Amino acid sequence: MDEKTSTGSGRYQPIVRVRADDMEIPQDDCRIPRRGEPCAIIIAGATGDLTARKLMPALFNLYQNDGLPETFAIVGCGRTALDDQQFRNKMETAVAGQNGDRAAWKHFAAALHYFPLIYDDPESYLRLAELLKDLDNRHHTNGNRMFYLALPPTLYRTVAEMLGQSGLGREHTDGNGWARLVVEKPFGHDLESAIELDRSIQHDFKEHQVFRIDHYLAKETVQNVLMFRFANTIFEPVWNRRYIKSVEVTATETLGVEHRAGYYEPSGVLRDMFQNHMMQLLALTAMEPPSRFEADRVRDERVKVFRSLRPFPVQDLREYLVLGQYDRGTNGKTPLPAYREEPGVDPTSLTPTYARMKVYLDNWRWQGVPFVLTSGKRLAEKLTRIAIQFREIPHSMFRQVLGETVNPNRLTLGIYPEERISLTFQTKTPGPRTCLRNVTMDFFYQEKDTGPVLEAYEKVLLDCMLGDQMLFWRQDAVEQCWSFLTPILTECEACNDRKQMLHTYPAGSHGPAAARNLV
Ligand code: BG6
Repeated sequence: MDEKTSTGSGRYQPIVRVRADDMEIPQDDCRIPRRGEPCAIIIAGATGDLTARKLMPALFNLYQNDGLPETFAIVGCGRTALDDQQFRNKMETAVAGQNGDRAAWKHFAAALHYFPLIYDDPESYLRLAELLKDLDNRHHTNGNRMFYLALPPTLYRTVAEMLGQSGLGREHTDGNGWARLVVEKPFGHDLESAIELDRSIQHDFKEHQVFRIDHYLAKETVQNVLMFRFANTIFEPVWNRRYIKSVEVTATETLGVEHRAGYYEPSGVLRDMFQNHMMQLLALTAMEPPSRFEADRVRDERVKVFRSLRPFPVQDLREYLVLGQYDRGTNGKTPLPAYREEPGVDPTSLTPTYARMKVYLDNWRWQGVPFVLTSGKRLAEKLTRIAIQFREIPHSMFRQVLGETVNPNRLTLGIYPEERISLTFQTKTPGPRTCLRNVTMDFFYQEKDTGPVLEAYEKVLLDCMLGDQMLFWRQDAVEQCWSFLTPILTECEACNDRKQMLHTYPAGSHGPAAARNLV
């Protein structure tokens, strides 16, 4: 099929689509998630935003697609005093609008419970332990427990310690089965705090019990980067400095800081997006093939990428990093406030909401290839993608007829909004004259696929119930990334020209003009 599509520049480019019959019909085995063992899922922070927006909808969806264990209990914990019925009503509102019938909800809701937890009170955890024992009998959950910390990061340590002290972190003793601790990002505020947080967690939980989340790793198309690279022979031979000129990793957003100033003000874009999601996208693009598709082998290769990050030249910061903060702007005709006018933000704030950073990997495969990472809030579009720019052809036999330039190939791994893989290459323009044109071959990830797609949080929860840590951060990787970023943060936050370093950009634009020079 050959059609035309508009390019950003307003010109038309021919598009060659992958033929649907090239794809095999998905097998049922791939559709139905494997079920974990019976367990209780305890959510600390159950009256918060994350539980209502992501966790409860994900759990209900899993339930409807046979992704939850045959028997399970979900215990919401929070400071607010609620009873089971009030919690169920609250959660019903949270999943309203989601597909699913009343009968399914009623059945699911019967496994929902609520426990008012005082986060720093040891007695409160002892009572929670009693409730969990009781629920083991009522829901046959066999003492298996997953503790999900959907809490402000300042509480991670306290809650992990209290769980440990009360014996809830112990596995296979006193009626306990397995115990897993799920920790949301950010894991620490810098290298030192990440090490400290880990030390206190590891006092009561072993590494195999700790699941540090990065929801980007759980996105379908992000997982597909590994399949694309390592289940095909044709890309790997050219996946190196000899053929690749540069790599761009982009994750831009249209949303502003919303109601999260309390968290975002001391974090900024480098901690919020770079220390985790951007680094993982970089790792998947650059890593060596693991010998097996197993959690630790894959995580070993990811961490090797972080180890080969060239220490950031903080003395030449401006050549490698552009920071920005959004000013007033518009979205079409709607006026948008400046970051400093957002609720809870300091009107003189110097927190960056945008960064474009050039990094290098010092290893044989990637020596000299720039990886340019860009992320920001309140930009013109929500876009997540990895773009591989190949080198120009070494010699053009078309020089006499076409001049010097023949456009190099480009491969784009689209993650959002279009989940697609596009390869741009040169072909002859039909007609009597010798002309070349760019054509793009596209694969749309969801084409010919009618099955349910696991949303990132569903995958996170499912893998945690199955005890599969492949898509989670391991502590050595966390520390490697903080070791790389902490000197940059220190330099950016402590330097005298901090104000000058921060470029403003209109909300709804493509970011600061200065970023265009960083290639
Ligand atoms: C979160 C960040 O981890 O990722 C947010 O804290 C950001 O600031 C979000 O908006 C982006 O995720 P997604 O899946 O919408 O690209």
